Amino acid sequence: MATILVTGGAGFIGSHLVDRLWRDGATVRVLDDLSSGLLENLSGPREFERERFRFTLGSVTDRDALDEAAAGCDWIFHLAAVVGVRRVVEEPVEAQRNLLHGTEAVLECARRNGCGVLLASSSEVYGKGLRIPFHEDDDLRLGSPAHARWGYGAAKAMGEFLAKSYADTYDVPVIVTRFFNTVGPRQNGRFGMVVPRFVRQALGGAPITVYGDGAQQRCFTDVRDTVECLVRLWQCPEAIGEIVNIGNDREITILDLARRVLGACDSDSEIRCVAYDQVFPAGFEDVRRRVPDVTRLEQLTGYRPARDLDETLGWIVADARARLDRAASVTGSRA
Ligand SMILES: NC(=O)c1ccc[n+]([C@@H]2O[C@H](COP(=O)([O-])OP(=O)(O)OC[C@H]3O[C@@H](n4cnc5c(N)ncnc54)[C@H](O)[C@@H]3O)[C@@H](O)[C@H]2O)c1
Repeated sequence: MATILVTGGAGFIGSHLVDRLWRDGATVRVLDDLSSGLLENLSGPREFERERFRFTLGSVTDRDALDEAAAGCDWIFHLAAVVGVRRVVEEPVEAQRNLLHGTEAVLECARRNGCGVLLASSSEVYGKGLRIPFHEDDDLRLGSPAHARWGYGAAKAMGEFLAKSYADTYDVPVIVTRFFNTVGPRQNGRFGMVVPRFVRQALGGAPITVYGDGAQQRCFTDVRDTVECLVRLWQCPEAIGEIVNIGNDREITILDLARRVLGACDSDSEIRCVAYDQVFPAGFEDVRRRVPDVTRLEQLTGYRPARDLDETLGWIVADARARLDRAASVTGSRA
């Protein structure tokens, strides 16, 4: 069975991927600096079988830490990143350095150690998009560098170019995946991600704050579907050298999402629309629609993410409630 390094494996998607790979019998290494991930996300593999699991605390930009974690690995799933538009707007230098240098360091490490790389990119690379649905071979239409928000998509796109260059120049096997809004338990709400933010507000009885008019549409993918696609792509030799969208292509407005979260939480919180310039710097540009073309994904893997959003929201809310109960019992036992 393979030995795999998951960078960012203590994060949201990474930890679900680690659970899956480890359950399938792989030997799994994780390198994470815990800047947004949590060690508790890895409690399954850490507790049960230490021989097939090792955690290294460190940054992907630290060559020694990366080499130590990657030693003996066949593949690196590179998920470590400062995630989301909001963080790139708030901490542009740190976030872009992390994205650019992290991906370069991982590709260089793969070249030195003779392993393959599955790169986690983002639907943000499509920018404003040319046409719906977004196809992997479309030209990219990013906004002006005058607006920091496009820096996230640009840095992810640069990572894709670099991956292609390493594949062409050094024969590093590379698969590039573009994720579209993946959701599920363990997603960190600290950086404004929409679903954990709405769930926290609804369970806390606070108003649900929708940015803009709420008519913007998104597609939400259950993390179990995302992980299934990642594993299938990695097992598919024809996926090497490809760029592949990973997402559910069913659209929903953000207002409708807010209503469904209220339903899942059994909450009567009010829904409040907030202008973008109250949350982001002036001139913030949002993308109205973002839909993946999943033809290539389906052709390569025979799989199409289609889990029902209400089922996923029910899972997220049950997990959030269990966390709140645990936190309350710890606070109660200390009182
Ligand atoms: N969640 C989504 O909807 C989504 C959408 C598009 C792309 N992605 C991509 O998927 C990947 C995983 O995202 P996520 O949602 O799980 O976010 P996350 O923040 O939960 O996971 C990122 C992990 O990377 C770690 N990390 C950050 N910088 C690091 C560094 N320099 N060295 C080592 N570890 C570092 C963090 O501590 C965290 O555990 C990212 O590359 C992200 O850009 C996610």
